[in-house]
Amino acid sequence: MLQTIKKIGVLTSGGDAPGMNAAIRSVVRTCAFHNKKCYGIYRGYEGMIDGDFIEMDARSVKGIINKGGTVLKSARSKAFRTVEGRKKAYEQLRKAGIDAFVVIGGDGSFTGAMVFNKEFNFPVMGIPGTIDNDIFGTTHTLGYDTALNTVVEVVDKIRDTASSHNRLFFIEVMGRDVGHIAVNVGVGAGAEEILIPEEDLGLDRLLESLRRSKASGKSSSIVIVAEGDKIGKNVFELKDYVDENMSEYEVRVSVLGHMQRGGSPSCFDRVLASRMGVKAVESLITGKSNYMVGLKNDIMELTPFDQAVKGKSKINKELLRVSDIMSI
Ligand code: F6P
Repeated sequence: MLQTIKKIGVLTSGGDAPGMNAAIRSVVRTCAFHNKKCYGIYRGYEGMIDGDFIEMDARSVKGIINKGGTVLKSARSKAFRTVEGRKKAYEQLRKAGIDAFVVIGGDGSFTGAMVFNKEFNFPVMGIPGTIDNDIFGTTHTLGYDTALNTVVEVVDKIRDTASSHNRLFFIEVMGRDVGHIAVNVGVGAGAEEILIPEEDLGLDRLLESLRRSKASGKSSSIVIVAEGDKIGKNVFELKDYVDENMSEYEVRVSVLGHMQRGGSPSCFDRVLASRMGVKAVESLITGKSNYMVGLKNDIMELTPFDQAVKGKSKINKELLRVSDIMSI
């Protein structure tokens, strides 16, 4: 028999991303729309273990759709990786009468939810929120579009100073395991080269490409480097390597870091968050569990957690080719 869900919890977990607040708002309001109670769970799974809950109604999420970060705070919980931690979390949820939850986060957060569901047969649903866009089952994760716009704006600014001084810049962008941000920003900001974890360009080809770029009369060069790039050197070592091998370049490094995770979400992320929240809550209410909601061909679809976690979100190789052609 279908278990009737009356109280739904919502939490943000792992690295924050713009659009998380818009997703919390959507979950809370969809619950209100369907006459379900909604509880915010603070600090991700840490707050679940501590029973750090707050009842939320439609008005408690006013004025947050445009805010970066997450009003519920986030954490990467070590305790939730242990059986004891999860048991405590389960007891806290039962005590508060929460009978399902929506977790907004990345693949680590989904793995936690999946294990929890298996251990306690507890209904769970996921909303993919990470600027890295590294989750299978959705073309866009929450925060990715905003991060692209933030990064492209900054790279444009760096380009201004780079060309005033005829300099080469290595710009490190986020992307621990995937190069989605690097590839899109590389094309969008007209980078000479893009270094990503999925492809090892090799140092020789990098030098060759930079020499070509110099010979073609370019006044500045931008190389976008994803933080997880496997060329074997970090951005500072890359600078040293080019300094040693190409005296014709004056090289500088910019590591953009966590500013990429902040800021007001783009319209795309706000709309996506709103759609994902509705889909997540309505899926739970209709008895579905253990899925992640995602965007595919502009339709909201569900992907089982195990596929979302195991599957690879592939880089668009066409974009790499476009970048090669554009940087001639
Ligand atoms: O997962 C998103 C992300 O921003 C990665 O790109 C980055 O490697 C990581 O989080 C940084 O995590 P933290 O904020 O814990 O240092």
